[in-house]
Amino acid sequence: MSQSAQLKLSGDKTIDLPVVVGSENEHALDIGKLRSSTGYITIDPAYGNTGSCQSNICFINGEEGILRYRGYPIQQLAENSTFVETAYMLIWGELPNKQQLAEWSGLLTEHAPLHEGLRFAFNSTPPQGHPMATLSSMINAVSSYHPELLNIESDDGFKVAAAKLLSKVRTIAAFSYRQTVGAPVRYPKPDFDYCTNFLHMMFSKPYSSFEPDPDVVQALNQIFILHADHEQNCSTSTVRMVGSSGANLFASCAAGVCALWGPLHGGANVAVLDMLGRIYSGKTSVKEFMEKVKSKEEKLMGFGHRVYKNFDPRAKILEESAKKVLPKLGVKDPLLAIAEELKDIALADEYFIERKLYPNVDFFSGILMRAIGIPINMFTVMFAIGRMPGWIAHWYEVFKDPNARINRPRQVYTGPTERDYTPMDKR
Ligand code: ACO
Repeated sequence: MSQSAQLKLSGDKTIDLPVVVGSENEHALDIGKLRSSTGYITIDPAYGNTGSCQSNICFINGEEGILRYRGYPIQQLAENSTFVETAYMLIWGELPNKQQLAEWSGLLTEHAPLHEGLRFAFNSTPPQGHPMATLSSMINAVSSYHPELLNIESDDGFKVAAAKLLSKVRTIAAFSYRQTVGAPVRYPKPDFDYCTNFLHMMFSKPYSSFEPDPDVVQALNQIFILHADHEQNCSTSTVRMVGSSGANLFASCAAGVCALWGPLHGGANVAVLDMLGRIYSGKTSVKEFMEKVKSKEEKLMGFGHRVYKNFDPRAKILEESAKKVLPKLGVKDPLLAIAEELKDIALADEYFIERKLYPNVDFFSGILMRAIGIPINMFTVMFAIGRMPGWIAHWYEVFKDPNARINRPRQVYTGPTERDYTPMDKR
């Protein structure tokens, strides 16, 4: 039986609001007719209580620390899947069979190289430029080289566009890194899998063969899988918002990159290492830093989340992975010990307990990325590569929705009421 709720407004006007129930029994009030029937709108700064859409891609229960992609628990994917397989499942809804996976991997391999014109564009990016700026502009530029993909007319057309984007984003990221260190670009190799190819394009030398440690390849797969989607976060909502105007996949995902750049979102992994580095270098101590956090002069970066009011399951997996991979690689990173100390203090401290602040995905990801050789200014780029399947899946969900309308929030105006224009000599 369909449920509804009643809203009583001043003047004794009462209206029924239908209740929408999700597949995990989440309840929402449908206010779609609120303004037309009452003249009221709702106001919810930062959207903490607003469901912007119905989506079947990702489920989070922040109170219990649950994250599932298309129903599959994140722990099972991190343990058993690869990034390429998880990307397929996120975009198409089901795990691929052998043939589908081979075809998808083949498409990614086919579309890994960049148009030579685009490769030359790297020569005109300043070496000190931020790789996120390069990434967003190059993603947009890719579309200029493939104008046939701007208007998608079939699932097959979308598959090619998705494969181009997912594959080329990794090539762009690696090329932009090599540009910043003044090294010649390394072209993708068709016999390498997605993550091995990324490591090859980042780190291989023209004068020696390249064989990355299988543990590093697995850790990279895990990092990308854990970042692959997170329902209506800031960057994904941006991609959906831009896509709702009919903007193409590349333009929408380039906007997602820009949203991810901010330190409260994807940039937090950089801020975590910065914070740990300050403590390690003696600029502050753990005790002094935590006091500043509690007096709100500082933030404990990598802690807290809009949705998780419990452990972020991704943080737990990455912490375990860092503890396993660092010793295997012979890396002794003093920042890991500082992170563990901060975590233990925070989890036992009333300030954090009361506010339900736990480590988020960024708290350990930087330490792991550092151990596998990723430079700090590339951390947010790594997040963007990982998040690409989620952005692509959400863009397609909007694209395929027969009821989708351009996203256009309203506002409560608080500026001056009507007044007359004052001539210059009277001001
Ligand atoms: N350190 C110290 N205090 C914090 C932190 C933190 N990291 N996070 C939240 N708080 C405090 C707030 O000051 C607030 O305190 P108050 O109740 O006394 O005013 C309370 O906890 C509630 O926090 P909100 O600001 O309501 O949390 P919000 O949902 O707006 O923000 C956010 C979430 C942005 C993630 C925040 O926790 C934060 O800034 N964390 C640090 C940055 C970070 O790690 N970002 C990565 C997020 S995960 C991701 O994007 C992949």
